[in-house]
Amino acid sequence: MGRLRSDVMVGRACAFLMAAAQDRKPVGGWTHNFYRYPARFSPRFARAVILAFSNPGDTVFDPFMGGGTTLVEAAVTGRRSAGTDINPLAFFVARVKTTPLSESEITEIEQWGRALASDLKLRNSVTRPIGSTWQGYDRNISDRKTWPIRKTLELAVMHVRRLGNWRMQQFARCILLRSGQWALDCRSTIPSATQFRWRFLKFLEEMAGDAREYTQALGSGIDADENRNLLAPVCLSRSVIGVEKEEQLASHFPPALILTSPPYPGVHVLYHRWQVQGRRETPAPFWIVGSPDGNGASHYTFGDRKRRGLAPYFEILRGAFNSLARIADNNTLMVQLVAFSEPSWQLPMYLKILEEVGFREIRPTSVVNSQDARIWRAVPNRKWYADQRGVTTSSKEVILFHRLA
Ligand SMILES: C[S@@+](CC[C@H](N)C(=O)[O-])C[C@H]1O[C@@H](n2cnc3c(N)ncnc32)[C@H](O)[C@@H]1O
Repeated sequence: MGRLRSDVMVGRACAFLMAAAQDRKPVGGWTHNFYRYPARFSPRFARAVILAFSNPGDTVFDPFMGGGTTLVEAAVTGRRSAGTDINPLAFFVARVKTTPLSESEITEIEQWGRALASDLKLRNSVTRPIGSTWQGYDRNISDRKTWPIRKTLELAVMHVRRLGNWRMQQFARCILLRSGQWALDCRSTIPSATQFRWRFLKFLEEMAGDAREYTQALGSGIDADENRNLLAPVCLSRSVIGVEKEEQLASHFPPALILTSPPYPGVHVLYHRWQVQGRRETPAPFWIVGSPDGNGASHYTFGDRKRRGLAPYFEILRGAFNSLARIADNNTLMVQLVAFSEPSWQLPMYLKILEEVGFREIRPTSVVNSQDARIWRAVPNRKWYADQRGVTTSSKEVILFHRLA
């Protein structure tokens, strides 16, 4: 897309994007419901941006991919895509959501799940994970109300290795992850083990259906397998800082579109824990997916938000966007959705850093709802993940358009 043309298109696409950004409908479709990743995009917004600013066959890159919303929408609309994230949980979720499965694999998972559900008896014995890696994985999920869910999950995780390959095993763990989140995260009443088993079966059926549709969307026409290989997104578990040297992504750069949402300045989002019965945090999701964590919240949010002037945040931001400037070219458009706890000083600082590393902002003058020609929306009580009780900071979010100066 030519430079001038893309500037004009940013303006024209605004009405469309404004409607998509205001979208409050529950997240759904394709594999989006496999996990409720905190602060995830509305798929409708991701799709609107991808359709407006890229063509089939182009590459879309999401450096802070989270649960992979951008990648799923890119793949089902015929774009090549890639993403990175520093959180092993995000990497796990994004990879399961974007990996096509064959019909025989999906059938095997369904059979495994149905057989398992009748095997999850609380009186059955379980091999508990041992060793320092999993120390504390059961924190805050071992009291009178929560232990039956923990034990059911332990029994189920033990059975995952019966599945024949890593793709199926990861998928199975994702069903357990979703069931565990449903049962434990931000709930006032913890369900019984029986209710948990029913819910597991419901998710099994739903996710198998979603995986079929997603796989079909990627591989259509006479070259179905070839299409699928080409469109299956590449997910990497790594920081975006230094991504310009990443050999696995060499054929994806420069991307036509960078669509992303980085950690937000001054806004608290709990990416790596579940909150059980109030604000008691558990690292259980890492144990369920089989990827150890060990990092504090600030690892995932660009540093300690309590430090004066958010100094660590802006330092990491600079490193991240410096790497993005190196993988972009003159035709790359970068679209971000960013929330600010205090936009009055955080936004100018944010933009200054982007400018210093080489990005120029494009402001769509046709925008009607704001004085600064940017698309804003208020997010009272963190509405887009309002079910994360306890996270109450109100903030404003904005869509920013950039490309190389
Ligand atoms: C707002 S979330 C992205 C959500 C995503 N748009 C979605 O739809 O799920 C920001 C993500 O940035 C990730 N992150 C933080 N520091 C990072 C870094 N240095 N490199 C890559 N990802 C990072 C966090 O782990 C988090 O998943």
